[in-house]
Amino acid sequence: MKAIMVGFGQVGRSLRTLLQGRAKELGVEVEIEAVVTRRGIMIGDGEEFRKTRDGTAMDALNLIGPDLVIDVSSANYQTGEPSLSLYIEALRRGVHVVTSNKAPLALKFWEIMDTSRRHGGKLGFQATVMSGVPSVNLIRVMPGLKITRIRGILNGTTNYILSKMYQGLSYEEALKEAQELGYAESNPEHDVNGFDAAAKLVILANYGLGSRANINSVHFKGIKELSQERIIALKRQGKKVKLVAEAYGNSLTVEPREIGPEDPLYNIDGVTNALHISSDVQEITVIGPGAGPLNAAFGVFSDIVLMSKGLY
Ligand code: HSE
Repeated sequence: MKAIMVGFGQVGRSLRTLLQGRAKELGVEVEIEAVVTRRGIMIGDGEEFRKTRDGTAMDALNLIGPDLVIDVSSANYQTGEPSLSLYIEALRRGVHVVTSNKAPLALKFWEIMDTSRRHGGKLGFQATVMSGVPSVNLIRVMPGLKITRIRGILNGTTNYILSKMYQGLSYEEALKEAQELGYAESNPEHDVNGFDAAAKLVILANYGLGSRANINSVHFKGIKELSQERIIALKRQGKKVKLVAEAYGNSLTVEPREIGPEDPLYNIDGVTNALHISSDVQEITVIGPGAGPLNAAFGVFSDIVLMSKGLY
C-alpha cells in the first residue's frame, strides 16, 4: 500500500519503526511516500524524508494518489481541520484513512463515518481511544451487540496525575512527569480539563451506542480544582478520586468521582485506562495503558495491518 502520513512527531516516528520491522514480518507492505507537517511536504524512501515543496496534506493526496492516509497529527478542536476535509476527500475517493487524531471524529463523527460507508474508503480509528489497547476495535469485532452503557477511565495523563497526588506528589510535578513520558496532549489543558476524555467518550458513544453526539454533547469537568488536601483526606477514608467518563442513554459525562474499593475503577492507577462495556449479552472490561507514543503508534499499526489483510 502506498501511504502518506500527516504529522511526524513521536507517534509518527514510532509508527515508522513498526512499519519497517513488524509489518514486513506480517507480510504487510506499506510504503510511506510522503510525510506532511506544518513545514510542508517531505518525500522519502520510508527511512529519510526531505522537504521537497510547500504544501498541505490535500496537496500530498493529489500529488501522490495514495491508497492510505495516516493521520498522526495533533488535534485541532476548533474546526477539526485540516484533517477533517482531508478524510472526507480521501474517503470519497475510496482511499483508506487510519488516524490517531481525535478532533475530526469528536466533531463530525457521522459525516466521516457515512462518507466511508457510502464510498468504500475504510476508516480506522482505534488509536483515538486508549491508543493500542482495543476499545474501538473491541466494539468492531462484536457486531450486533446491543451496548447499553460505557464507563471508564479514558485519559492516561489525569489518571497518572491523580495517582501521583495520592502518593504525595504535587499537581505540577505529576503533570510535568506525564508530559516528559509523552502521555499528555500537545496542549495539556485538554487533558486536565476533561476535554480529551470527553472527545474519546463521544467517539465510543457514537460507535458503540449509536449516539448522535459531538464534543458539545458532553458535560465535562476536569481535575484542576482538586486539591492535594482533598485527595489525602479521601485517602484516609479509603477512597480515591478518578476522572470517570460515562455514556448511558443520552447522557455523556466526564467528571472527577470519589470512589471506594468496591468500584472496579478503584485499582486502575498510573497511565492505565479502563473501559467497561455493559451489553445485553455480557459485561466486558478492558484495562491497559491508554497513552504513550509507542502505544498510540501500535493502535494505528494494528488498524493498518487489519485493513491491509481485508479484516475490515
Ligand atoms: N493525552 C492522552 C492521554 C493521550 O493522556 O490519555 C492518549 O490519547
